[in-house]
Amino acid sequence: MSSITVYPVKKFTRDIMCAPDKSMTHRALMFCSVAEGRSEVKGILSGGDCLSTLNCMRRAGAEIELKGDRAYIIGNPRLKSADLYAGNSGTTMRLLCGLLAAKEGEWTIAGDESLSARPMDRVITPLSLMGGRITSQNGKAPLRVLGGKLHGADIIMDVASAQVKSAVILAAMGAEGVTRITERERTRDHTEIMLASMGVDICADNGVITVNGDQTPRGVSVTIAGDISSAAFPLVCGLMTGGEVTVRNVGLNPTRAGILEVFDQIGVDYSVDDVKYVCGEKTGVVTVRGLGDGKSFAIDKSMMPRLVDEIPVLAVLACRLSGDSVITGAEELRVKESDRISATVKMIRAFGGRAGENPDGFTVSGSCRLKGGCVFDPRGDHRMAMSAAVAAAASDGGARILGGECAVVSYPGFWEMLAGKTS
Ligand code: S3P
Repeated sequence: MSSITVYPVKKFTRDIMCAPDKSMTHRALMFCSVAEGRSEVKGILSGGDCLSTLNCMRRAGAEIELKGDRAYIIGNPRLKSADLYAGNSGTTMRLLCGLLAAKEGEWTIAGDESLSARPMDRVITPLSLMGGRITSQNGKAPLRVLGGKLHGADIIMDVASAQVKSAVILAAMGAEGVTRITERERTRDHTEIMLASMGVDICADNGVITVNGDQTPRGVSVTIAGDISSAAFPLVCGLMTGGEVTVRNVGLNPTRAGILEVFDQIGVDYSVDDVKYVCGEKTGVVTVRGLGDGKSFAIDKSMMPRLVDEIPVLAVLACRLSGDSVITGAEELRVKESDRISATVKMIRAFGGRAGENPDGFTVSGSCRLKGGCVFDPRGDHRMAMSAAVAAAASDGGARILGGECAVVSYPGFWEMLAGKTS
């Protein structure tokens, strides 16, 4: 297996542009593909997951032309039957279920080994309450969607998942009547913001999202903000090594910016400047200058949706803080691209840190130098590979990351950024 060697870095100092947002890119490609008319999407992420969405939409009949980081799309609200492949991407598979369930046609959706092991009943169950017909292999992919007429329904979200919520919203848009979705924990709302900008009648109030049926979005010009989940890696690397790091154009949607709440708990010396709104999404420039008080942190279930993808790299940061950092209510991490609770604990220990696993999270002991000098296998999970790379850069001995190219799933250019070869 290939590997990437990461050497220790003295002071990781960078002034860089944020990688484009993965969640927003998926949505823009998907929604514009079923919109009436033409769309232009600026600043798309061309990572592996988003390319899976792009290929699925092309196969289902949308015309998408890529020029650099722009996509020009002629939508096809009807879509055509096809066999689709979602690769490693849970967002692609789950959102497609909702989108296709309300269209006339028949589709299969398959995924790679990791995606085929992830739970899909969480979308199948609410969609079936709306009349959706999706069959699976014991709740897992490959899936078969037999699209047709759906009806509005009252859906209470069992899991705090923006993917599931978005699937239901997409189905609701094509259904007859009104759908009401009740969220116990608020999850990322890029779907609601983007669809509203495409003329869809959708309203979110106090944890309840109301979507009127029989609606077709209209084409737009949309600009993708930067991905705070990707910005987390250089920011934490700076904090671990005592360097100053600035990341520009970071998406700061409050449903995503939980990492800043953790910085506040730690007492990190950071600033957020140049705040503006781009296509309804808050963005800004984030600079970290030092660990400040360096206190340990606690993350619980209520915070989880706002930083769910940042947990492994925050665990690396916890090794440098004073006292134990405690993560609870993180069961969802067990069904990501890998079991990220157990993978994170293994990673921390492999680098010489101390961590203890619990069913719903883990504890990381602080005040710990990371020895490194290890070989870490992220098992194809992009965020584990990048978290281990940060641990390696901040360690005494560096590390070899097996199959580290998987970072391309969400952050093409990650390794160049780490090596200081890009701005
Ligand atoms: C995503 C939502 C989150 C996140 C994933 C992307 C999205 O998953 O972990 O990387 O784009 O909606 P869940 O919705 O399963 O929590």
